Order: sequence, then C-alpha cells, then structure tokens
Amino acid sequence: MPSKSRSSRKSGKGEAEHASPNGVELSNRSKGSDLGNGQSEDAPHIPVMLEECLDLLNIRPGRTYLDATAGAGGHLLRIAGDAGKGSTIFGVDRDRYAIERLQKLVPGNVRLIHSNYSQFRQNLSEQGVTTIDGGILADLGVSSMQLDEAERGFSFLRNGPLDMRMDQSKGQTAEDLLNTASEHELADIIFRYGEERFSRQIARSIVYHRPIKTTGELSDLVGNTLRKFQKQKSWKDSAGPSKHPATRTFQAIRMAVNEELQCLEKFLEDALAMLAPGARLVVITFHSLEDRMVKQFLRTASASCVCPPRQPVCTCNKTSQLLIITRKPLVADEKEVLANVRSRSAKLRAAEKLV
Ligand SMILES: C[S@@+](CC[C@H](N)C(=O)[O-])C[C@H]1O[C@@H](n2cnc3c(N)ncnc32)[C@H](O)[C@@H]1O
Repeated sequence: MPSKSRSSRKSGKGEAEHASPNGVELSNRSKGSDLGNGQSEDAPHIPVMLEECLDLLNIRPGRTYLDATAGAGGHLLRIAGDAGKGSTIFGVDRDRYAIERLQKLVPGNVRLIHSNYSQFRQNLSEQGVTTIDGGILADLGVSSMQLDEAERGFSFLRNGPLDMRMDQSKGQTAEDLLNTASEHELADIIFRYGEERFSRQIARSIVYHRPIKTTGELSDLVGNTLRKFQKQKSWKDSAGPSKHPATRTFQAIRMAVNEELQCLEKFLEDALAMLAPGARLVVITFHSLEDRMVKQFLRTASASCVCPPRQPVCTCNKTSQLLIITRKPLVADEKEVLANVRSRSAKLRAAEKLV
C-alpha cells in the first residue's frame, strides 16, 4: 500500500507546516486479520441468535413474514422452512449481490426484493400486500460476505477502495464523504456514530492526508493517530483487548454513508403500520444508538398514555399498539460468542402487535 510521508508532500512550507497536524504519518499497515477471539473476518456468515429469533417470531404456517435484512439467508431460509409451503416470506436486502446469491438458494415460498428496508411498505404494497400477519425480522448491520469482499470497502483488514455502500447503485461512497466533508462534519460523524473519543484528532488527520482512497490508508491513519494520542504501543491496547483501533471509525463512516439510523427510523414506523394484531417484530442491533432507537420506539408504541405525568386526567386517547416481549434485550450466550464473534455486541428486542 502506498504510504504518504512528510517528505512526499509539496515543498514550500516550513517544516512545522509540513508536518501532519497531529504529527501522524501513514505507514505500511499491519497485515493482521484477527478480529480478536482468534476469529478472522473470513468466517462464513453465521446467523445471530437464530433459535431465539425463530421462537420470538412465533412462526406459524400459512402466514406472511418479512426478513428485512435477508443477507446470507441464515434467518430467512429457516423462517421459510419452518413456516412451510402455504406461507409467503419476503426477503429484502439493499445489497444486489446478496439478493442475486439468494435467488439460487430460496424455496418457492420466498419472494426476494432488492430494496432498502425503509421502502419495504411501498415494495409490498406494489405486490398487493398491505399487512403482515406473521412477523418481521431485521438483523441490522453488515454481513460477513460484505466484510470479506475487499472491493466493497467495509473492512479495515482488507485493502480496497473506500466504497462502503450496501447498495452500490446509489449514494455517495465513503471516499466521497471522507474527501469532501469538512473536518467538523467528519469529527461529528466519527464521534456520534463511532463513539470515538479521539474523533477530532482523527478528523484532523483525515483532512490533512486527503485525498484518501483506500481502506488501508484510512486504517493506518486511524491506527497511527490513536497510537500517538494514547501513547500506547500496540493497537490491541488502544481499543480494548479485542478491537482493532479503526473499528469505531469504519463503523461510523459506514453508518453515515448508508444513512443507517435514518433508514431504521422509517423502517420501524412502517413495521408498526404493517403488522397485523398478533404478529411479531424482532430486531437485532449491533450499535448502541440503534438499540436505543429500537428501545425507545417499542416503549412509545407500547405506552397506553403519553400525557405529561402530572396531568390528573388522561386526554391523549392513546392506545397501546405493541406488547413488549423482551423487557431487557436478549444477548448471545458465551457459547455463541465463542463460535461467532459478530454476536458479541448483538442485542435482540421483540414485541407483538396488539391492535
Ligand atoms: C447482518 S446482515 C443479515 C444477515 C442475515 N440475517 C443472515 O442470517 O444471513 C445485514 C444485511 O442487511 C442488509 N441491510 C442493511 N441495511 C439495510 C437496509 N437499510 N435495507 C435493506 N437491507 C439492509 C445488508 O446489506 C446485509 O446484507
């Protein structure tokens, strides 16, 4: 991977101006492929909390289900198998490659749709479907297949172009975002979506080293910035025992590129509107902001009154639309985390539609 050093930049400025604002240089990146726990990103996609999802979806024959994040089909194929022939299972994914791959695998009761789940209500209504009487599953984030493909640009462990779009037919790439956003905007994104303490320092390094074109360059830059500011020798120390230092920045940029929180908000509203009484909603999140959004959404939809607490008489006339099934989010057990490192940050919440 090409590295950019102080001496490679144009002359004409004093030494102090030549130096990166953080004193951070890009260097050859380490070739680690370990995610911690001895697992590599190359592991096939293993569905997270599969049995729990199936239980909570309460799969019944003859019903309609939606897997809003079909991915590698781990959940989808089991839902389709358990629901059986008389059922209809919609499988949505915004990644065209995931849908193309699934086309060869799914049984006759599955209908695949290449779309953003924020559009699923419209997609289903175009097929004459206005309610879902079985359940809806969303298993958020990226799949192992997306991470494994260097060309997709999701992985800090594989050098590739900085794309990071789940749907490569639309929207700006990570490269566009990183090379055009202001330092302030980048710091905000990295802080908000990545919960990265050193967001301002990383944003400053990015702006100084622009243009940045590859995942390797970004990963090096983040690693070097954190090493410098945390004054620690190894990346394992700088981001916890099992996390690469670029984890949080890559996650933040990916979430911004794909507008993940905005899509989730719309998806939840549409899911509530589409579910028939007795149907279930099951959501697996991998990020605290997503989990907070789901938790808050379920709480509001399950409330029977939203009047101010001190108001003596209820005037809101609200009725509870959901019954929360998981008071606390389910998490993967130790055995699952050992077998599938992706599951370690998963939180599963479920609810049943009431009216
Ligand atoms: C964690 S994977 C799902 C894996 C799947 N449950 C399985 O077991 O194989 C997440 C998938 O959701 C897709 N995805 C993420 N955001 C999406 C969105 N807004 N609309 C549609 N699909 C989305 C990604 O492209 C990815 O394939």
